[in-house]
Amino acid sequence: MTRAARQVLPAEELLLAGYKRPESLNVVAPVTNGDNLNFYGLAVAPEINWIRNSTNELVHLYQHYVPGSARATALLLELADECRTLIRELLLESGSRERFRIEFVGGTSRAVEIALARADRPQKVIVSPFEHPSVMEVARWFVAISGAQLCPLRFAPQDHFRSWPEQEDILVKQVAEVIKGNRLAALILSEVNYATGLVIPVEQVIDRLHRCGAQANLKIILDGAHAAGNNQHPRGVNRCSAYVFSAHKWLLAPEPCGVIVSHNVPPGALLPYDAWSSTLPATTVNVHMMAGLTSSLRFLKGLGLEKLWEHSRRLRRRFIERIHPIFNVVGEDSGMETTALLAICPRRERRWKFAAPELSAYLQKKSVHALVMGIDPDVPWVRVAFPCFINFEHVDVLCNVLETTLS
Ligand SMILES: Cc1ncc(COP(=O)(O)O)c(C=O)c1O
Repeated sequence: MTRAARQVLPAEELLLAGYKRPESLNVVAPVTNGDNLNFYGLAVAPEINWIRNSTNELVHLYQHYVPGSARATALLLELADECRTLIRELLLESGSRERFRIEFVGGTSRAVEIALARADRPQKVIVSPFEHPSVMEVARWFVAISGAQLCPLRFAPQDHFRSWPEQEDILVKQVAEVIKGNRLAALILSEVNYATGLVIPVEQVIDRLHRCGAQANLKIILDGAHAAGNNQHPRGVNRCSAYVFSAHKWLLAPEPCGVIVSHNVPPGALLPYDAWSSTLPATTVNVHMMAGLTSSLRFLKGLGLEKLWEHSRRLRRRFIERIHPIFNVVGEDSGMETTALLAICPRRERRWKFAAPELSAYLQKKSVHALVMGIDPDVPWVRVAFPCFINFEHVDVLCNVLETTLS
């Protein structure tokens, strides 16, 4: 063997070695633990071999050290720092990325809770209609402790089909009504609707709310759980009091991890006991979480987000072409930007053969993992995601199975 041939391949080349055909990303094949995965389109990332192996290697490295020793602590702080650097590089705009504080906590919901706790004791907590049910639970929890009032915005299932300007009017009118005469309120607003995958133009909404006089008495928490890494970079990060997102969704981290990005942090700001801020958390640290996030971010950097997103966009196009004669994509005429996540429902002249629970069971029996949602009590919607680790054959199986679900 020649010297050159013996040279270690850079990580990037090793990763790309599995990228054989443009339409198939074999390198990112998920670990299925013996189960058949005909289609995997859920929000939480399944395990991906490369990321799992890399995570295990980092955890083994840590286990060589005495827990709590200076060396062990230094390794953990180094991993957290690497994650911050990679997040800045991969997700944040170059002009302002150094100004942000980036913290890690045990999940997205916890990140939202921390953002609420830092919102200067709001009297009202307003929850947008695009929030995941677990965020509503966080808001309920927070108001129970703080004595604030919970104000979920009203939105009918059909409103998701309206044009964005109409949706925005519904939203802004209600927020203006809620904050009238209040000392302070907090608004939780998703950047990508968890149900439809459509992008909420959050900067435009913030501008409009400010024009309605909501600048001084409204703290805005942006939830980017489905935005960060999902075919786009987070927006509005420097226009809100906190931008939170998930590492274990579109960033493929194998363990739950919530990320809080804040700018202009006042000196002496509240430091949560369980957050990876400038020091380790005060509680027992989750080494797997940091090792997992470091590994997934290294993986994404190696493959390149743009390339992965292009793959997802092609999967999405293929899916829509195939199902369009029989399904509607929720909000497709709204004029909103799209991501690698969407929801479908049968066209007017078609009906599901099953009620929601049976539909979910039927899909799983076919090894199709997609989310059946009850947002419209009359017609279930099915949410489908096109993460980078699936390929065209998976989409075809999904379409074949969906065709058998209608009467
Ligand atoms: C938009 C959004 N925010 C928050 C969450 C909660 O995330 P976690 O399970 O990490 O708390 C989810 C979960 O899917 C979500 O979709």
